[in-house]
Amino acid sequence: MADAELRGVVALDGPSGTGKSTVARKLAAALSASYLDTGAMYRAVTLAVLRAGIELADEAAVAAQAAASLPVMGTDPELPTVVLGGEDVSREIRGPEVTGAVSAVSAVARVRELLVEEQRRIIREALAAPGGVVVEGRDIGTVVARDAELKVYLTASSEARARRRSDQDVAAGRSADLARTHADVQRRDAFDSGRAVSPLRMAEDAVELDTTELDVAGVLARLGSMVRARGLAAGVEPTR
Ligand code: DC
Repeated sequence: MADAELRGVVALDGPSGTGKSTVARKLAAALSASYLDTGAMYRAVTLAVLRAGIELADEAAVAAQAAASLPVMGTDPELPTVVLGGEDVSREIRGPEVTGAVSAVSAVARVRELLVEEQRRIIREALAAPGGVVVEGRDIGTVVARDAELKVYLTASSEARARRRSDQDVAAGRSADLARTHADVQRRDAFDSGRAVSPLRMAEDAVELDTTELDVAGVLARLGSMVRARGLAAGVEPTR
C-alpha cells in the first residue's frame, strides 16, 4: 500500500481505546492522506472552557467559549498539531482534567454544531488537495461525513480498551490505575452513547471491526484490504 494514494474520505468511529487514533494516523500516512482527529477538537475546546473557569453546567457560556476558541488543526498524520490561541496544546489536552470534562462539553448541542461545521470545512479543504482524508471520531459516519467512501466502526471489549488507555498513560509519563481507567471507560461509553445529541452509534452502512484480539498491524491490514476492495487507493485495482 506504500505508494498508494487515498481517494475520498475514510471515517473511523468507535469508543475510546479501540486503537482508533494510532491506526487512523498510520493509515493516513500509508495512503499519503490528511488526518483529522475530531476528538482532539472537543478536547481543545474543553481546555479553553476549563482555563476560562466556566461552569460546565452553563451550556450558553460553554458554547460561547467554544465559538471564541476554535482550535487550529494540523492535518499531517506524521505530526498532527492542535493549536489554541497560538499555543500548541497537543499534550495538555490528553491530561486528566480535560479527559474528565470533555464528555460534558461534547454533549452541548451548540458546541457540536460549531465543531461539525469546522470539521466539514477541514475535510473539504483536505479533499481539494491531492490525497484523501482519514477522519476519526464518534459521529463521522453518522453526522460529519455521511457520504464518506468508507466507514469503519471500531470496537473492542471494555477490558481491552482500558488496558490500552492505561498503557498509553504510562508511555506518556502519566500515572495509571487500571481499575479506575476501566471504570472511566465504562462511564464515558454510557455518557457518549446516551447523550441526546449525536449519540455514539454505528452508521448503518459502516463495517464493524472488533480489535480486541488484533494488534495495530492486524487492524491496519484489515483497513488496507477494505480501502483496496473499494478501489479507494489510487493506482491499486479493487480486489473485490
Ligand atoms: O477520541 P477522544 O477520547 O479524544 O475523544 C474525546 C471526547 O470527545 C470523547 O468523550 C467523545 C467526544 N467526541 C465526540 O463527542 N465526537 C467526536 N466526533 C469525537 C470525540
